[in-house]
Amino acid sequence: MIRETTLAALQEAQESTCAIVEALDDADYRSQFHADLSPLGWHAGHCAFIETYWVREVLCGDDRETRALHALYVPENLPKPQRGPALPPAPELLAWARARQAENRARLCDPPRAAAGRRLLRGEYLPRFLIQHYAQHYETMQMVLAQRQLRRPPPRLAPGRPEPRAPARACVHLAADTVEIGSGGTPAAYDNELPAHRVRVGPVRLARRPATNAEFLGFMEDGGYRRAELWEPEGRRMCAQAGLAHPGHWRAAPDGGWYEIVGAGERALEADAPVRGLSRYEAHAFAVWAGGRLPHEYEWEAATRAGLLEGVGGAWEWCANPFHPYPGFRAFPYERYSTPWFDGRHYTLRGAGPHTRNAVRRPGFRNFYVPGTRYLFAGVRPAYDE
Ligand code: AVJ
Ligand code: FE
Repeated sequence: MIRETTLAALQEAQESTCAIVEALDDADYRSQFHADLSPLGWHAGHCAFIETYWVREVLCGDDRETRALHALYVPENLPKPQRGPALPPAPELLAWARARQAENRARLCDPPRAAAGRRLLRGEYLPRFLIQHYAQHYETMQMVLAQRQLRRPPPRLAPGRPEPRAPARACVHLAADTVEIGSGGTPAAYDNELPAHRVRVGPVRLARRPATNAEFLGFMEDGGYRRAELWEPEGRRMCAQAGLAHPGHWRAAPDGGWYEIVGAGERALEADAPVRGLSRYEAHAFAVWAGGRLPHEYEWEAATRAGLLEGVGGAWEWCANPFHPYPGFRAFPYERYSTPWFDGRHYTLRGAGPHTRNAVRRPGFRNFYVPGTRYLFAGVRPAYDE
């Protein structure tokens, strides 16, 4: 019913979130390190719950293990500040999660007869959906660890002092063409990547690589944060109100120079690494400073499918357009996976970051956040009209 490799990937995904929690003390397990991010323990419990909900409650019609937990682990049911205090002690949560996960794997190998023909099981959709769910929460947990690191004292290592640079000139050219967008041939595709459809793109040039830390320093030293003409008004307001003048994952060293937070650690800022920790506002301002604009997600997908882009996977890349349904969109496996976020407030990101697991690395994958989000491992690849 399910291939060995898929089962092993699921087991590995399950362990990825439990292992993070295993290493924490109680405060770190329950703490909310950012207003928009849940406690680490909640993420692990939520993933095991969602898996148990789909495998046991939906597929097998048995809600005994999940009934009482909807109130804690369905995001709409409990505001973030209440999640940490509501968690069971970590050892209890981990024991529960691992017991359910082992059972769920066994049930996926041998689903009830009544479940046999369901679309959920076609092409191993459900295990792939669950693996990707773990993958996305694993990455969010890395964002939480980065926020925890920012609250700790700075490290005792030499900071990076990259030379500011002008925007990189190296570009790839996307000729005017009709291209296919979407993950039509991918059994694991999310509803928001479907249906595949053809669109016109180009002519346009895209930066060959995402903007680097040195280029972003160039923007900063050129007064980038102060120059109104580069900014969308809401972005300028956000930066002014919060006093933001550098990427969210940078930290100034006491005697000059910079550190960069990556996951649970911190290191000297590297000149040539892609800049990370940008809101879409900062990404937009940088792209305008560089003489360009943000790319539309279709331009990005067409260019990556054509094999033109370099540096994909070092930083998520903010796009110009809001997250929207493709023509003929149908919600699956549930209404609220994508539909609530087609609200005009969420914008697409493409690519992947340093903590993105392979399960969600593909040209058609669409990430989406509101433009003020600065805790993502996200940067920018400017586009230039011809
Ligand atoms: C697509 C990463 C924005 O984490 O909120 C996880 C993915 N959906 N559980 C999120 C998701 C339900 C989603 N992002
Ligand atoms: Fe989730």
